[in-house]
Amino acid sequence: GDISGGCPFNGSVDMRNLLGRTNRDWWPQALQVDILTEGGRSANPYGEDFDYAEAFNALDYNALKADLTALMTDSQPWWPADYGHYGPFFIRMAWHAAGTYRTGDGRGGSNSGQQRFAPLNSWPDNGNLDKARRLLWPIKQKYGKNISWADLFILTGNVAIESMGGPVFGFGGGRADVFEPESVYWGTEEQWVNEGVATRIQPKEGKALENPLAAIQMGLIYVNPEGPGGNPHDPEGMARDMRETFARMAMNDEETVALTAGGHAFGKAHGAHPADTFGGAPESEDLHLMGFGWLNDADEIASGNITTSGIEGAWTPNPTQWGGDYFRLLFKYDFELVKSPAGAHQWQPINPDPEDMAPDARDPSKKVPTMMTTADMALKWDPEYRKISERFLHDQAALDDAFARAWFKLCHRDMGPKVKYLGPEVPQETLIWMDPVPQGTTPSDAEVARFKAAIMDSGLSVRELVKAAWASASTYRNSDHRGGANGARIRLEPQRSWAVNDPEELGRVLDTIEAHRGTLSMADAIVLAGNAAIEKAAKDAGFETEVPFLGGRGDATDEHTDAASFEPLEPFADGFRNYLKTKAQVRTEEMLIDRAHLLGLSVPEMTVLVGGMRALGAVSKHAHHGNKIGVLTETPGKLTPDFFRNLLDMGTKWAPVDDSGDEEYVGTDRASGEEKWRATRTDLVFGSNSILRAQAEVYAESGNEGKFVCDFISAWNKVMNADRFDVTWAKYH
Ligand code: HEM
Repeated sequence: GDISGGCPFNGSVDMRNLLGRTNRDWWPQALQVDILTEGGRSANPYGEDFDYAEAFNALDYNALKADLTALMTDSQPWWPADYGHYGPFFIRMAWHAAGTYRTGDGRGGSNSGQQRFAPLNSWPDNGNLDKARRLLWPIKQKYGKNISWADLFILTGNVAIESMGGPVFGFGGGRADVFEPESVYWGTEEQWVNEGVATRIQPKEGKALENPLAAIQMGLIYVNPEGPGGNPHDPEGMARDMRETFARMAMNDEETVALTAGGHAFGKAHGAHPADTFGGAPESEDLHLMGFGWLNDADEIASGNITTSGIEGAWTPNPTQWGGDYFRLLFKYDFELVKSPAGAHQWQPINPDPEDMAPDARDPSKKVPTMMTTADMALKWDPEYRKISERFLHDQAALDDAFARAWFKLCHRDMGPKVKYLGPEVPQETLIWMDPVPQGTTPSDAEVARFKAAIMDSGLSVRELVKAAWASASTYRNSDHRGGANGARIRLEPQRSWAVNDPEELGRVLDTIEAHRGTLSMADAIVLAGNAAIEKAAKDAGFETEVPFLGGRGDATDEHTDAASFEPLEPFADGFRNYLKTKAQVRTEEMLIDRAHLLGLSVPEMTVLVGGMRALGAVSKHAHHGNKIGVLTETPGKLTPDFFRNLLDMGTKWAPVDDSGDEEYVGTDRASGEEKWRATRTDLVFGSNSILRAQAEVYAESGNEGKFVCDFISAWNKVMNADRFDVTWAKYH
């Protein structure tokens, strides 16, 4: 069966709400600090004016790295370092910070320091990483605002690798911390992985891994190390799970093998005792434990009786030294299935030579067997993984390079364009996954004016020009900072063929823009054409105004573009254009909220954009109603608040259209019974939902027509420029 996932939000599972199971559901007793952030009051103590990039650039980077290097071997009695070196522990911390990233919606990842907060701080897979973060506190305290937690997690992982002789490709800073948990859909299950929750892929039942999720079970970063659902006897399933989950974080087979084998060159797994002898996760633990969870008994910790995953042992005889022992042992020995002291399934080399035994983590004179997890075994069981593993076995330099590059990608994938990377260790090389865009040039005022006049004279309508500009810019995701108008990838595959973009119409519009653009980049011209159309629409509504324009975008080519990596950016619903590809697993109005969230919009910004786009007629073609559904105005193309006025008008009675699955509604004249409008859930939610209705009322009120035009232009401008890191970050380079 198809286990590739398909449409985000769309799957064989039941309807769900947008966020699935949230912190409030997991920990009903948690302190509700968030009531203080009501009314737009920020939880960020640094305030809005704080410029993290500026603070980072003032950092004494080399001093910080020296302190981190010293920390690696500065063992603390409250959590002694295995083998006297914290490096492996910190690599796992960094990997788990970055590894929540998923391509489906660009959420997760390390770029905001989320591992500090629930639910991630309490995920079973993040067991005991509370201690890793706490070990870093003295350094965080020393460097303060100049290094965010988010950057510190990743940089510490890099320093750990370097300090154990491993290869690194570089480091880019610039991850600003947030100060509250981010709202991310992590799944609907009501149990964690270690409570027996079912695996999310069940091919026999035709069940794919639900998009956008990237982990196989609730509470895991990726796969269950013991095997699918804990079953060690399913090698195919193990490889399938790894392939799917790593693909969801933008990793191919080679990257997956390099990362897993490279990571497990270091450190050990912890399964000294059955896990139920230890406490709960940090979020549910007693006040006096001061944010620690799981394992708190000082005597157990001192004696090394530590259980994290439940698996026990090191992968190699040299767990604090980079090298090729992982593959050497994987291929040198046959392995037998054994159980750890904590009862977990794991694989042990049969009859290992004495020099292939590992040191005990607390007593180097003692030798203990090494192990492989079921996931590690997949690197030799699966035919594709095996080819790569054998190549790395015989070519250490290839492993060094592949690991360094894959680690760099893992840790930077969610940061957006390379111009955002800060610090002295940003690599020279530009990589395709950074979605590079050639530098543009700022057009002259005269050229801008010439083009605007020409395009408005070209025969294209306001609706067409606004739709094209929106299609170009609105791919932006505030989660991983991909997409957006810069680069004009709207002209390239796959974007130009997305159904939401009405490809035939878009092709025509782009050809006309191309014909008139002169010296402008296509990326600039597409946005400018939309701006010009809006100025006309405002003028036709009685408001002479100018839409601000920030030129200087460049045009990417196919060579700059990993087309396949853009597929997850396709909107399966875009409420701003009243588009829905197929009925989803969340209500269509929730998909509007989701898209607005990805665009970084506020509630008023979302509201005014929907109302304005409808007034301009800028909706995607609808199966039955062409360019009309939701366009609640007699004068499409004029920037009027008609959408809100007609929506809230008690003269219209709304009813669902039969057989539309409650996706389509008809508005009839309450007196005559005559049909007046057709609309979608996304339209009617601005009348039915009390919060959105309050917003809609403001724009429907008389006297606010000018406000409507101004607010629309300002929200529009935000979307058009959402990806302009080349401008906002230019001053840091
Ligand atoms: C530790 C599983 C990929 C780096 C562990 C542990 C497990 C595990 C079960 C033991 C945790 C404990 O009990 O303390 C997996 C699985 C992976 C995977 C199933 C993917 C299929 C990675 C990757 C990296 C990595 C991609 C980094 C590049 C590490 C390190 C440790 C570790 C350094 C040792 C931590 C320590 O010594 O405290 N992993 N891992 N792993 N993992 Fe992975």
